Amino acid sequence: MSSKDRKGMWTGRFSEATDEFVTAFTASAHYDQRLYRQDIRGSIAHAHMLADCGVISRADAKAIKTGLEAIAAEIEAGEFVWDPALEDVHMNIEARLTERIGEAGKRLHTARSRNDQIATDVRLWLREVIDEIIALLRRFQTGLVDLAEREADTVMPGFTHLQVAQPVSFGHHMLAWYEMLVRDEQRLADMRLRVNQMPLGSAALAGTTFAIDRAQTCAELGFEAPTRNSLDAVSDRDFAIEFVSAAALSMTHLSRMAEELVLWTSTLTGFIDLPDRFCTGSSIMPQKKNPDVAELVRGKTARVHGALHTLLTLMKGQPLAYNRDNQEDKEPLFDAADALRDSLRAFADMIPALTVNRERTYAAAREGFATATDLADYLVRRGVAFRDAHEIVGQAVAFGVAQGRDLAAMSLAELQAFSAHIEADVFEVLTLEGSIAARDHFGGTAPNQVRAQVTAARERLKAG
Ligand code: ARG
Repeated sequence: MSSKDRKGMWTGRFSEATDEFVTAFTASAHYDQRLYRQDIRGSIAHAHMLADCGVISRADAKAIKTGLEAIAAEIEAGEFVWDPALEDVHMNIEARLTERIGEAGKRLHTARSRNDQIATDVRLWLREVIDEIIALLRRFQTGLVDLAEREADTVMPGFTHLQVAQPVSFGHHMLAWYEMLVRDEQRLADMRLRVNQMPLGSAALAGTTFAIDRAQTCAELGFEAPTRNSLDAVSDRDFAIEFVSAAALSMTHLSRMAEELVLWTSTLTGFIDLPDRFCTGSSIMPQKKNPDVAELVRGKTARVHGALHTLLTLMKGQPLAYNRDNQEDKEPLFDAADALRDSLRAFADMIPALTVNRERTYAAAREGFATATDLADYLVRRGVAFRDAHEIVGQAVAFGVAQGRDLAAMSLAELQAFSAHIEADVFEVLTLEGSIAARDHFGGTAPNQVRAQVTAARERLKAG
């Protein structure tokens, strides 16, 4: 085979064709083709700039643009043939461009390298993904806020150590989830600033000998600023690590929610019902209705955590500047983004549609001596030191456990046997409603505090 018959961009230097297995081993087109829109957009901006700077002719730039747009249409129509021998998305598109428009296509790669090109493509892609995920986070937040309002007066047991601790408003619990999602959104908004920097023009590693205008491509592509150091720009993957790190933490939040949904739909608690359309059945047990969506979200968390580990390890041994190792960043990055996006979508659809079995949550709070702290606080207000009050109520609870009765089910005389400070008004603090209403300060579980937080959250969501 003569060098002219061989495919590829570097036949000049080589005396034999690439080993067949090595071609397959080094190829990334089967997954990085996902970046075709960003790749084409970046190339059009690059060609515009080259023409404006007099590096290529206007006619060439025009042919490049028309050719690339036609290629985008071919890809979208599923007519484009991806060739692993052309390695990646960049060379597949460039080769096709030259096939279509001839000479001009060969001029596109002037003053750039695939090293600055891929870093630019991934940043453009990630910027869109972040915007999409922020929109999903906000939709999910809105659903939780609505649910919180609907269930502000619903009493459920609050847990520590998964033991009944104190009664809380179900709405308060939903707003705890909302807070997690607010932080997730803030992290993404913050890292987006560092994603939105433009490597184009760094070329292979040192910059280019052509008099290019990086500010122009930067403006056309909507980047915040061109990167300041070419060596850093072609090798940096912090933006991918930051995103996957934010995604891993966000998935941790979703996984914690998933765990609670699994507990709450179990007949062990029966706290909530999920609509049938979000559940699946068993192939053998006719009675089953399983919370598979929640379990899969919990399961997908594992792959996102894995992706973070992959990316950190991918980068730790790399000297400056670009190394081919970097090609391995895409699959974990894509996978993490898909898992987070799909999980958020599933929860944003499903969770606001849950129904609370209010009698069950109420009864569960009743069963666990959830108002014991309220009784201790009552004694403190009557002059008993908190540590002594704790001891007194502990004895009352022990009595209740032995009798199988809650504090509120005891007679006044029974309660007074534990402390002479107890009077008839004690029963007001022993009710679940009284207990949650009493935690009436900023951040507390009182239903009117929950409603105030609902209002504040809606204002925040409206402000954008
Ligand atoms: N496909 C590569 C990547 O994903 C970009 C190509 C750079 N290749 C090279 N030999 N310099 O990072």
